[in-house]
Amino acid sequence: MRFPFNENLTVNEGHLCLDGVDLVALAEEFGTPLFVFSEEIIRKRAKEVASAFGRENVYYASKANSNISVLKLIRSLGLNVEVSSEGELFAALKAGFKPEQIIFNGVAKTLRELHAAAELGLHCVNLDSVCELERLRQVARERGVEVNVAFRVSSGVMAGTHTSFETAASLSKFGVTLEEAVEAYRAALREDGVNPIGVHCHIASQVPRVEVFEEGAFKVGRTVKTIEDTLGLTLSEFNIGGGIPVPYAREPIDGLPEYFYAKIDPREIAERVRRVLDEVIGGIRLIAEPGRYVVGDSAVLLTQIQNVKKKGGEIWVMIDAGFNVLLDAFSYKWYFHMISANRAGEEHSYPYMVGGPLCDGGDIFLAGGQCRMLPRDLKVGEYLALLYTGAYTLEQMSQFNGRPRPAAVMISNGKVKQIRTRETLEDLIRNDRYEENQ
Ligand SMILES: Cc1ncc(COP(=O)(O)O)c(C=O)c1O
Repeated sequence: MRFPFNENLTVNEGHLCLDGVDLVALAEEFGTPLFVFSEEIIRKRAKEVASAFGRENVYYASKANSNISVLKLIRSLGLNVEVSSEGELFAALKAGFKPEQIIFNGVAKTLRELHAAAELGLHCVNLDSVCELERLRQVARERGVEVNVAFRVSSGVMAGTHTSFETAASLSKFGVTLEEAVEAYRAALREDGVNPIGVHCHIASQVPRVEVFEEGAFKVGRTVKTIEDTLGLTLSEFNIGGGIPVPYAREPIDGLPEYFYAKIDPREIAERVRRVLDEVIGGIRLIAEPGRYVVGDSAVLLTQIQNVKKKGGEIWVMIDAGFNVLLDAFSYKWYFHMISANRAGEEHSYPYMVGGPLCDGGDIFLAGGQCRMLPRDLKVGEYLALLYTGAYTLEQMSQFNGRPRPAAVMISNGKVKQIRTRETLEDLIRNDRYEENQ
Protein backbone atom coordinates (compact mmCIF):
# COMPACT_ATOMS: atom_id res chain seq x y z
CA MET A 1 0.00 0.00 0.00
CA ARG A 2 1.23 3.49 -0.89
CA PHE A 3 1.06 6.01 1.91
CA PRO A 4 -0.73 9.07 0.51
CA PHE A 5 1.57 11.72 2.00
CA ASN A 6 4.61 10.95 -0.07
CA GLU A 7 5.20 8.43 -2.85
CA ASN A 8 8.39 7.14 -1.16
CA LEU A 9 6.47 6.25 2.00
CA THR A 10 4.58 2.98 1.93
CA VAL A 11 2.95 0.67 4.45
CA ASN A 12 3.92 -2.98 4.72
CA GLU A 13 2.28 -5.24 7.27
CA GLY A 14 1.22 -2.16 9.16
CA HIS A 15 4.72 -0.71 9.37
CA LEU A 16 5.72 2.56 7.78
CA CYS A 17 8.44 2.08 5.14
CA LEU A 18 10.67 4.61 3.38
CA ASP A 19 11.99 3.52 -0.02
CA GLY A 20 10.87 0.00 0.88
CA VAL A 21 12.83 -0.12 4.16
CA ASP A 22 10.83 -0.94 7.32
CA LEU A 23 11.18 2.06 9.66
CA VAL A 24 10.23 0.12 12.80
CA ALA A 25 13.10 -2.27 12.11
CA LEU A 26 15.45 0.70 11.61
CA ALA A 27 14.35 2.28 14.89
CA GLU A 28 15.08 -0.99 16.65
CA GLU A 29 18.47 -1.39 15.00
CA PHE A 30 19.74 2.19 15.44
CA GLY A 31 17.70 3.41 18.43
CA THR A 32 15.69 6.62 18.61
CA PRO A 33 15.44 9.50 18.00
CA LEU A 34 16.64 8.64 14.50
CA PHE A 35 16.61 10.64 11.28
CA VAL A 36 16.12 8.51 8.17
CA PHE A 37 16.92 10.18 4.85
CA SER A 38 15.99 9.02 1.37
CA GLU A 39 18.72 9.53 -1.21
CA GLU A 40 16.11 9.02 -3.91
CA ILE A 41 14.05 11.99 -2.72
CA ILE A 42 17.08 14.30 -2.58
CA ARG A 43 18.00 13.17 -6.10
CA LYS A 44 14.49 13.94 -7.32
CA ARG A 45 14.37 17.40 -5.76
CA ALA A 46 17.87 18.29 -6.95
CA LYS A 47 16.85 17.25 -10.46
CA GLU A 48 13.74 19.40 -10.28
CA VAL A 49 15.61 22.56 -9.27
CA ALA A 50 18.34 21.81 -11.81
CA SER A 51 15.82 21.48 -14.63
CA ALA A 52 14.05 24.68 -13.52
CA PHE A 53 17.07 26.99 -13.23
CA GLY A 54 19.84 25.07 -15.03
CA ARG A 55 22.16 22.92 -12.92
CA GLU A 56 25.00 25.46 -12.97
CA ASN A 57 22.70 28.20 -11.65
CA VAL A 58 21.66 26.37 -8.48
CA TYR A 59 23.65 27.01 -5.29
CA TYR A 60 22.18 24.67 -2.67
CA ALA A 61 21.73 26.58 0.64
CA SER A 62 23.77 24.42 2.98
CA LYS A 63 22.24 26.01 6.07
CA ALA A 64 19.27 23.70 5.42
CA ASN A 65 21.45 20.62 5.94
CA SER A 66 25.23 20.56 5.85
CA ASN A 67 25.77 16.92 6.77
CA ILE A 68 28.82 15.89 4.74
CA SER A 69 27.09 12.89 3.15
CA VAL A 70 24.18 15.10 2.11
CA LEU A 71 26.58 17.71 0.69
CA LYS A 72 28.56 15.06 -1.18
CA LEU A 73 25.37 13.70 -2.70
CA ILE A 74 24.30 17.18 -3.79
CA ARG A 75 27.73 17.87 -5.27
CA SER A 76 27.63 14.57 -7.15
CA LEU A 77 24.34 15.73 -8.68
CA GLY A 78 26.09 18.74 -10.16
CA LEU A 79 24.69 21.51 -7.97
CA ASN A 80 26.80 24.32 -6.51
CA VAL A 81 26.59 25.44 -2.89
CA GLU A 82 25.79 28.51 -0.78
CA VAL A 83 27.40 28.97 2.65
CA SER A 84 26.86 31.56 5.35
CA SER A 85 29.73 30.92 7.75
CA GLU A 86 33.28 29.67 7.96
CA GLY A 87 31.88 26.39 9.31
CA GLU A 88 29.58 25.86 6.33
CA LEU A 89 32.45 26.82 4.04
CA PHE A 90 34.64 24.21 5.76
CA ALA A 91 31.95 21.56 5.31
CA ALA A 92 31.40 22.48 1.66
CA LEU A 93 35.13 22.19 0.87
CA LYS A 94 35.28 18.92 2.84
CA ALA A 95 32.45 17.60 0.68
CA GLY A 96 34.51 18.38 -2.41
CA PHE A 97 32.95 21.58 -3.72
CA LYS A 98 35.46 23.76 -5.55
CA PRO A 99 35.83 27.40 -4.41
CA GLU A 100 34.39 28.63 -7.71
CA GLN A 101 31.21 26.66 -6.94
CA ILE A 102 30.61 28.53 -3.68
CA ILE A 103 28.63 31.68 -2.82
CA PHE A 104 29.21 33.23 0.62
CA ASN A 105 26.31 35.03 2.39
CA GLY A 106 25.97 36.55 5.85
CA VAL A 107 25.32 39.76 7.72
CA ALA A 108 28.31 39.70 10.08
CA LYS A 109 31.21 38.08 8.29
CA THR A 110 34.34 38.08 10.40
CA LEU A 111 37.75 39.16 9.13
CA ARG A 112 38.74 35.47 9.14
CA GLU A 113 35.76 34.70 6.90
CA LEU A 114 36.55 37.56 4.53
CA HIS A 115 40.17 36.40 4.34
CA ALA A 116 39.05 32.83 3.61
CA ALA A 117 36.70 34.03 0.87
CA ALA A 118 39.42 36.20 -0.70
CA GLU A 119 42.11 33.54 -0.43
CA LEU A 120 39.98 30.81 -1.96
CA GLY A 121 38.53 32.89 -4.79
CA LEU A 122 34.88 31.99 -4.24
CA HIS A 123 32.34 32.48 -7.01
CA CYS A 124 30.81 35.45 -5.19
CA VAL A 125 30.68 37.11 -1.78
CA ASN A 126 27.25 38.61 -1.15
CA LEU A 127 27.78 41.83 0.76
CA ASP A 128 25.47 43.07 3.46
CA SER A 129 26.57 46.72 3.49
CA VAL A 130 29.08 49.31 2.28
CA CYS A 131 30.86 48.82 5.60
CA GLU A 132 31.40 45.16 4.72
CA LEU A 133 32.43 46.14 1.20
CA GLU A 134 35.24 48.29 2.59
CA ARG A 135 36.36 45.56 4.97
CA LEU A 136 36.50 43.05 2.13
CA ARG A 137 38.26 45.54 -0.15
CA GLN A 138 40.96 46.02 2.47
CA VAL A 139 41.41 42.24 2.77
CA ALA A 140 41.50 41.83 -1.02
CA ARG A 141 44.18 44.53 -1.35
CA GLU A 142 46.32 42.97 1.35
CA ARG A 143 46.17 39.74 -0.60
CA GLY A 144 46.54 41.38 -4.00
CA VAL A 145 43.35 39.80 -5.34
CA GLU A 146 40.02 40.93 -6.71
CA VAL A 147 36.87 39.39 -5.17
CA ASN A 148 33.56 38.95 -7.00
CA VAL A 149 30.74 40.58 -5.07
CA ALA A 150 27.00 41.24 -5.11
CA PHE A 151 24.98 43.34 -2.69
CA ARG A 152 22.06 41.83 -0.85
CA VAL A 153 19.18 44.15 -1.69
CA SER A 154 15.95 44.12 0.35
CA SER A 155 13.07 44.49 -2.07
CA GLY A 156 10.63 45.43 0.69
CA VAL A 157 8.38 42.56 -0.45
CA MET A 158 6.54 40.65 2.28
CA ALA A 159 6.14 36.97 1.42
CA GLY A 160 3.31 36.08 3.81
CA THR A 161 5.31 33.37 5.54
CA HIS A 162 6.46 33.00 9.16
CA THR A 163 7.54 36.45 10.40
CA SER A 164 11.08 35.27 11.25
CA PHE A 165 11.54 34.22 7.61
CA GLU A 166 10.60 37.65 6.20
CA THR A 167 14.08 38.92 5.33
CA ALA A 168 13.29 41.38 2.52
CA ALA A 169 11.31 43.83 4.62
CA SER A 170 12.97 47.24 4.61
CA LEU A 171 13.12 47.15 8.42
CA SER A 172 14.75 43.68 8.45
CA LYS A 173 18.42 43.39 9.40
CA PHE A 174 19.45 42.15 5.95
CA GLY A 175 21.27 44.01 3.20
CA VAL A 176 20.61 47.47 1.80
CA THR A 177 17.31 48.98 0.66
CA LEU A 178 16.35 49.54 -2.97
CA GLU A 179 17.01 53.26 -2.49
CA GLU A 180 20.49 52.67 -1.04
CA ALA A 181 21.54 50.15 -3.70
CA VAL A 182 22.80 52.61 -6.35
CA GLU A 183 25.15 54.31 -3.87
CA ALA A 184 26.36 50.92 -2.65
CA TYR A 185 27.36 49.89 -6.19
CA ARG A 186 28.89 53.32 -6.78
CA ALA A 187 31.08 52.68 -3.73
CA ALA A 188 32.02 49.26 -5.11
CA LEU A 189 33.16 50.84 -8.40
CA ARG A 190 35.16 53.57 -6.72
CA GLU A 191 38.34 51.57 -6.12
CA ASP A 192 39.89 48.20 -6.86
CA GLY A 193 39.77 44.97 -4.80
CA VAL A 194 36.17 44.03 -5.56
CA ASN A 195 34.39 43.20 -8.77
CA PRO A 196 30.60 43.72 -8.65
CA ILE A 197 29.12 40.92 -10.74
CA GLY A 198 25.55 40.63 -9.51
CA VAL A 199 22.74 41.35 -7.13
CA HIS A 200 21.23 39.16 -4.44
CA CYS A 201 17.63 39.45 -3.21
CA HIS A 202 16.51 36.47 -1.11
CA ILE A 203 13.00 37.30 0.10
CA ALA A 204 12.02 34.61 2.59
CA SER A 205 11.92 30.91 3.35
CA GLN A 206 8.75 28.88 2.66
CA VAL A 207 7.37 31.49 0.26
CA PRO A 208 3.71 30.60 -0.27
CA ARG A 209 2.95 32.26 -3.64
CA VAL A 210 4.86 32.53 -6.92
CA GLU A 211 3.79 36.17 -7.28
CA VAL A 212 6.10 37.03 -4.37
CA PHE A 213 9.14 36.00 -6.43
CA GLU A 214 7.84 38.00 -9.40
CA GLU A 215 7.27 41.10 -7.31
CA GLY A 216 10.77 40.88 -5.79
CA ALA A 217 12.32 40.35 -9.23
CA PHE A 218 10.43 43.31 -10.63
CA LYS A 219 11.50 45.69 -7.86
CA VAL A 220 15.13 44.63 -7.71
CA GLY A 221 15.24 44.27 -11.51
CA ARG A 222 14.26 47.92 -11.89
CA THR A 223 17.05 48.85 -9.48
CA VAL A 224 19.54 46.84 -11.54
CA LYS A 225 18.40 48.83 -14.58
CA THR A 226 18.86 52.11 -12.68
CA ILE A 227 22.36 51.00 -11.67
CA GLU A 228 23.17 50.29 -15.30
CA ASP A 229 21.73 53.61 -16.50
CA THR A 230 23.28 55.69 -13.71
CA LEU A 231 26.65 54.05 -13.21
CA GLY A 232 27.19 52.31 -16.55
CA LEU A 233 27.65 49.07 -14.60
CA THR A 234 26.16 45.95 -16.17
CA LEU A 235 25.48 43.27 -13.59
CA SER A 236 25.47 39.75 -15.02
CA GLU A 237 23.87 37.71 -12.19
CA PHE A 238 20.50 37.99 -10.49
CA ASN A 239 20.35 35.79 -7.39
CA ILE A 240 16.82 35.26 -6.04
CA GLY A 241 18.02 33.30 -3.00
CA GLY A 242 15.89 30.44 -1.69
CA GLY A 243 12.31 30.16 -0.55
CA ILE A 244 10.76 27.37 -2.66
CA PRO A 245 8.17 25.93 -0.27
CA VAL A 246 7.62 22.38 0.98
CA PRO A 247 4.00 21.30 1.56
CA TYR A 248 4.29 20.21 5.20
CA ALA A 249 0.51 19.83 5.63
CA ARG A 250 -2.02 18.17 3.36
CA GLU A 251 -5.40 17.96 5.09
CA PRO A 252 -6.98 21.15 6.40
CA ILE A 253 -6.10 21.69 10.07
CA ASP A 254 -7.76 24.54 11.97
CA GLY A 255 -5.29 27.14 13.13
CA LEU A 256 -2.46 26.10 10.80
CA PRO A 257 -1.19 29.04 8.69
CA GLU A 258 -1.62 28.80 4.93
CA TYR A 259 2.11 28.65 4.22
CA PHE A 260 2.28 25.09 5.55
CA TYR A 261 0.21 23.96 2.53
CA ALA A 262 2.22 25.87 -0.07
CA LYS A 263 3.33 23.95 -3.14
CA ILE A 264 4.96 25.65 -6.13
CA ASP A 265 6.69 23.94 -9.02
CA PRO A 266 10.27 25.34 -9.17
CA ARG A 267 9.89 25.56 -12.96
CA GLU A 268 7.03 28.00 -12.53
CA ILE A 269 9.16 30.22 -10.30
CA ALA A 270 12.09 30.15 -12.74
CA GLU A 271 9.91 30.81 -15.80
CA ARG A 272 7.93 33.64 -14.24
CA VAL A 273 10.97 35.37 -12.73
CA ARG A 274 12.85 35.04 -16.01
CA ARG A 275 9.94 36.62 -17.85
CA VAL A 276 9.93 39.59 -15.44
CA LEU A 277 13.70 40.03 -15.71
CA ASP A 278 13.64 39.81 -19.50
CA GLU A 279 11.12 42.65 -19.55
CA VAL A 280 12.85 44.84 -16.98
CA ILE A 281 16.57 44.25 -17.63
CA GLY A 282 17.02 42.02 -20.64
CA GLY A 283 19.29 38.96 -20.44
CA ILE A 284 20.84 38.22 -17.05
CA ARG A 285 21.94 34.94 -15.45
CA LEU A 286 19.26 33.81 -12.97
CA ILE A 287 20.66 32.12 -9.86
CA ALA A 288 18.76 30.37 -7.05
CA GLU A 289 19.81 29.17 -3.60
CA PRO A 290 17.17 26.59 -2.61
CA GLY A 291 17.71 24.78 0.68
CA ARG A 292 14.45 23.61 2.21
CA TYR A 293 13.06 22.35 -1.11
CA VAL A 294 16.07 20.17 -1.87
CA VAL A 295 16.13 18.28 1.46
CA GLY A 296 12.92 19.14 3.34
CA ASP A 297 10.76 16.15 2.47
CA SER A 298 13.69 13.73 2.25
CA ALA A 299 13.72 12.64 5.92
CA VAL A 300 11.55 11.06 8.58
CA LEU A 301 12.31 11.46 12.29
CA LEU A 302 11.57 8.31 14.28
CA THR A 303 10.80 8.68 17.95
CA GLN A 304 9.65 6.22 20.60
CA ILE A 305 6.77 6.59 23.06
CA GLN A 306 8.13 6.50 26.64
CA ASN A 307 5.07 7.35 28.69
CA VAL A 308 1.29 7.37 28.20
CA LYS A 309 -1.14 8.90 30.67
CA LYS A 310 -4.61 10.32 31.07
CA LYS A 311 -4.49 13.79 32.57
CA GLY A 312 -7.54 16.00 32.87
CA GLY A 313 -9.60 15.13 29.86
CA GLU A 314 -6.63 14.41 27.58
CA ILE A 315 -4.49 11.42 26.72
CA TRP A 316 -0.82 12.40 26.71
CA VAL A 317 1.92 10.46 24.97
CA MET A 318 5.50 11.44 25.80
CA ILE A 319 8.14 10.78 23.15
CA ASP A 320 11.94 10.76 23.23
CA ALA A 321 12.37 13.68 20.80
CA GLY A 322 11.67 17.28 21.77
CA PHE A 323 12.90 20.66 20.66
CA ASN A 324 16.43 19.46 21.37
CA VAL A 325 15.93 17.52 18.10
CA LEU A 326 13.35 19.63 16.22
CA LEU A 327 13.97 23.20 17.34
CA ASP A 328 11.62 24.73 14.76
CA ALA A 329 8.66 22.83 16.22
CA PHE A 330 9.14 24.99 19.30
CA SER A 331 10.65 28.28 18.13
CA TYR A 332 8.42 28.69 15.05
CA LYS A 333 5.57 26.35 16.10
CA TRP A 334 6.56 24.55 12.91
CA TYR A 335 4.21 21.79 11.78
CA PHE A 336 5.66 18.37 11.08
CA HIS A 337 3.05 15.77 10.19
CA MET A 338 3.05 12.88 12.68
CA ILE A 339 1.97 9.29 12.11
CA SER A 340 2.39 5.94 13.79
CA ALA A 341 5.31 3.95 12.38
CA ASN A 342 4.03 0.68 13.90
CA ARG A 343 0.44 1.11 12.77
CA ALA A 344 0.72 3.37 9.76
CA GLY A 345 -2.18 1.65 7.99
CA GLU A 346 -4.66 2.24 10.83
CA GLU A 347 -7.07 5.09 11.06
CA HIS A 348 -5.43 8.16 12.65
CA SER A 349 -8.51 9.63 14.28
CA TYR A 350 -7.90 9.63 18.04
CA PRO A 351 -6.75 12.88 19.61
CA TYR A 352 -3.59 12.91 21.70
CA MET A 353 -1.49 15.55 23.31
CA VAL A 354 2.12 14.75 22.39
CA GLY A 355 4.95 15.94 24.61
CA GLY A 356 8.72 15.83 24.17
CA PRO A 357 11.05 14.76 26.97
CA LEU A 358 12.35 18.19 28.00
CA CYS A 359 11.69 19.99 31.27
CA ASP A 360 9.94 22.79 29.44
CA GLY A 361 6.18 23.29 29.16
CA GLY A 362 6.57 24.46 25.57
CA ASP A 363 8.09 21.15 24.49
CA ILE A 364 4.90 19.83 22.91
CA PHE A 365 3.94 18.91 19.35
CA LEU A 366 0.63 20.52 18.45
CA ALA A 367 -1.12 20.80 15.11
CA GLY A 368 -2.15 24.44 14.76
CA GLY A 369 -2.64 24.62 18.54
CA GLN A 370 -4.60 21.37 18.68
CA CYS A 371 -4.20 17.66 19.45
CA ARG A 372 -2.48 15.20 17.13
CA MET A 373 -4.63 12.56 15.47
CA LEU A 374 -3.10 9.09 15.88
CA PRO A 375 -4.33 5.46 16.15
CA ARG A 376 -6.37 4.31 19.13
CA ASP A 377 -4.68 2.93 22.24
CA LEU A 378 -1.05 3.98 21.64
CA LYS A 379 1.40 2.13 23.90
CA VAL A 380 4.82 2.69 25.43
CA GLY A 381 7.51 1.32 23.11
CA GLU A 382 5.65 2.09 19.87
CA TYR A 383 7.31 4.39 17.33
CA LEU A 384 5.96 7.59 15.85
CA ALA A 385 7.27 9.24 12.69
CA LEU A 386 7.52 12.98 12.04
CA LEU A 387 7.55 13.59 8.30
CA TYR A 388 9.43 16.08 6.15
CA THR A 389 12.16 16.66 8.72
CA GLY A 390 15.14 16.94 6.34
CA ALA A 391 15.67 20.73 6.44
CA TYR A 392 16.82 22.94 9.33
CA THR A 393 16.76 20.00 11.76
CA LEU A 394 20.19 18.31 12.05
CA GLU A 395 21.58 21.84 11.89
CA GLN A 396 19.72 23.05 14.94
CA MET A 397 19.88 20.09 17.31
CA SER A 398 21.17 20.74 20.81
CA GLN A 399 22.22 18.80 23.89
CA PHE A 400 19.71 20.61 26.07
CA ASN A 401 18.67 18.71 29.19
CA GLY A 402 21.62 16.33 28.89
CA ARG A 403 20.49 14.65 25.70
CA PRO A 404 23.10 13.44 23.22
CA ARG A 405 22.30 14.47 19.66
CA PRO A 406 20.71 11.64 17.63
CA ALA A 407 21.98 9.56 14.74
CA ALA A 408 21.00 9.81 11.09
CA VAL A 409 20.95 7.20 8.35
CA MET A 410 20.39 7.42 4.63
CA ILE A 411 18.68 4.86 2.44
CA SER A 412 20.43 4.62 -0.86
CA ASN A 413 19.51 2.00 -3.46
CA GLY A 414 17.76 -0.05 -0.78
CA LYS A 415 20.86 -0.07 1.47
CA VAL A 416 21.04 1.76 4.78
CA LYS A 417 24.16 3.75 5.58
CA GLN A 418 24.81 5.75 8.70
CA ILE A 419 25.52 9.42 7.96
CA ARG A 420 25.72 10.67 11.53
CA THR A 421 26.69 8.88 14.73
CA ARG A 422 24.58 9.14 17.85
CA GLU A 423 26.44 11.15 20.46
CA THR A 424 27.45 9.51 23.72
CA LEU A 425 27.15 10.72 27.31
CA GLU A 426 30.87 11.53 27.15
CA ASP A 427 30.15 13.90 24.26
CA LEU A 428 27.93 15.92 26.58
CA ILE A 429 30.87 16.93 28.77
CA ARG A 430 33.65 16.74 26.18
CA ASN A 431 34.31 20.49 26.16
CA ASP A 432 33.94 21.08 29.88
CA ARG A 433 37.17 21.81 31.75
CA TYR A 434 37.39 20.60 35.34
CA GLU A 435 39.74 19.24 38.00
CA GLU A 436 39.53 15.41 38.23
CA ASN A 437 40.33 15.27 41.95
CA GLN A 438 38.24 18.11 43.27
C1 LIG B 1 20.46 34.10 1.70
C2 LIG B 1 19.67 32.86 1.74
N1 LIG B 1 19.70 32.02 0.69
C3 LIG B 1 19.03 30.86 0.69
C4 LIG B 1 18.25 30.49 1.77
C5 LIG B 1 17.53 29.19 1.72
O1 LIG B 1 16.15 29.33 1.84
P1 LIG B 1 15.23 28.06 1.69
O2 LIG B 1 15.75 27.02 2.58
O3 LIG B 1 13.88 28.54 2.08
O4 LIG B 1 15.27 27.64 0.26
C6 LIG B 1 18.17 31.34 2.89
C7 LIG B 1 17.37 30.95 4.04
O5 LIG B 1 17.07 31.62 4.95
C8 LIG B 1 18.91 32.54 2.87
O6 LIG B 1 18.89 33.39 3.91
